[in-house]
Amino acid sequence: MSTISQNQSTPLPAREGQGGGSADLIIIGAGPGGYKAAVYAAKHGLKVTIFEDVNVGGTCLNVGCIPTKTYVHSKTFAEAIERQPQVVEALRGGVETLLSHPNITLVRGHASFVDSRTVCCDSVATNETYTAPNIIIATGSSPKMLPIAGADSPHVVDSTGLLALKELPKKLCIIGAGVIGMEFASVFQRFGSEVTVIEYLKECLPMVDSDIAKRLRKLLEKRGITFYMGAGVKNLTPSPSPEREGSIVHFEQKGKEVSVEADYVLMATGRKANTEGLNLEAAGIAIASNGTIPVDDNFKVLPIKGELEGVYAIGDVNGRQMLAHAAEMQGIHVVNKILGIEDKIRFEVMPAAIFTEPEAACVGPTEDQLKEAGTSFECHKSFYRANGKALAMNETEGMVKLCCEPDEGRLLSAHIFGAHAADIVQEVTVYITLGATLRQLRDTVHIHPTLSEVLIEAN
Ligand code: NAI
Repeated sequence: MSTISQNQSTPLPAREGQGGGSADLIIIGAGPGGYKAAVYAAKHGLKVTIFEDVNVGGTCLNVGCIPTKTYVHSKTFAEAIERQPQVVEALRGGVETLLSHPNITLVRGHASFVDSRTVCCDSVATNETYTAPNIIIATGSSPKMLPIAGADSPHVVDSTGLLALKELPKKLCIIGAGVIGMEFASVFQRFGSEVTVIEYLKECLPMVDSDIAKRLRKLLEKRGITFYMGAGVKNLTPSPSPEREGSIVHFEQKGKEVSVEADYVLMATGRKANTEGLNLEAAGIAIASNGTIPVDDNFKVLPIKGELEGVYAIGDVNGRQMLAHAAEMQGIHVVNKILGIEDKIRFEVMPAAIFTEPEAACVGPTEDQLKEAGTSFECHKSFYRANGKALAMNETEGMVKLCCEPDEGRLLSAHIFGAHAADIVQEVTVYITLGATLRQLRDTVHIHPTLSEVLIEAN
């Protein structure tokens, strides 16, 4: 995810690029989508001006994927909060170095459209503008808080707020069992918090195969996380106990009113596109009812009316796939289009991973989706407990589901939970991208003993 609205660390002073000018490409937002596109375009000879309002690296690097993974790979909460800024700063320094390419001008400030070829910036004198024949909007997304009573309490936080806590919550209540909710539930339970998750749907992680998602949830339940599924949160009230500050979360499950008390409540109920203050109307850019910027298959924005050339929206802001790697690939594709380079990126083959412990990961449709679409397919399963490396690692919890066309035909999807699921799904992503069959996967020599043998063990 990339964004222009994190609030955790102080923006660095403007380094260069004050004063307007023209470029080949303007990029608004220096998250993974924006900065990768800038570097790629610069290496291909384009003159790029990139605007960043807060910190280069966006949500992913500053308050998202990277800090969260630092938590996952820290033994204790104390270690996590100590390492987080070090890891983030090291990576941010790396991005700053990449952006110091001679073809790139970095402007720090909030950019907005003057017209479809022109942008101004709040840190620059109002009569100075920036122009380019191509503009990429890569402004990312921000957490979406439920508009319910009590949500404004200081004990109700979004993912950025949770990552800023300096004390481990004794009781943490998480609203939403999507990617963010599940990742934080898993890691905070391991750190020692008493974790409760409240989810509206009947299963967690809707994009993951329901069988896999259920097994993962049951595993986390066994570790001590309490899940209330099929439960809609109504409101929050302040904690009545004088000795503890916090909130009470009130929700309804199967027609019954239930409540849970917590020191902190994490609202993990989705994210909204960052379009505020961009002045999209001035450029004639359409906006969807859910607040995202709709785009065509080449990520070109749609005009309010008439024609609109040279304006693109990539990453979370277009609402297609809220994943850092999706944003990166979309940016590369747009730059290729601008340069007239043909690429074969298959955006429909988009792997995703959830960094719970153990991980869950997927690529391609779920078994339920294939059934609903009336696709003929066969499903092959294997279990970590039968894999030598998994046994040796004492990581026997896990399952693989591979779907392919009949007779060990073309691979369609992989849904996995278990140690290193993300890496294993990455291998299947290659097969699917290249149109390989299950038979070809099985004919591929796999090192023994490795976890990736779970793929050839699927039958
Ligand atoms: P999400 O959309 O994945 O999940 C939100 C959940 O909240 C849904 O399951 C929804 O049913 C539930 N919910 C909504 N209102 C509720 C209510 N009143 N009561 C109970 N439950 C309610 O959103 P999330 O987890 O905030 O993530 C946002 C985006 O960020 C996602 O697109 C995700 O893919 C992306 N992301 C990806 C990561 C990764 O790739 N590892 C890591 C973190 C975020």
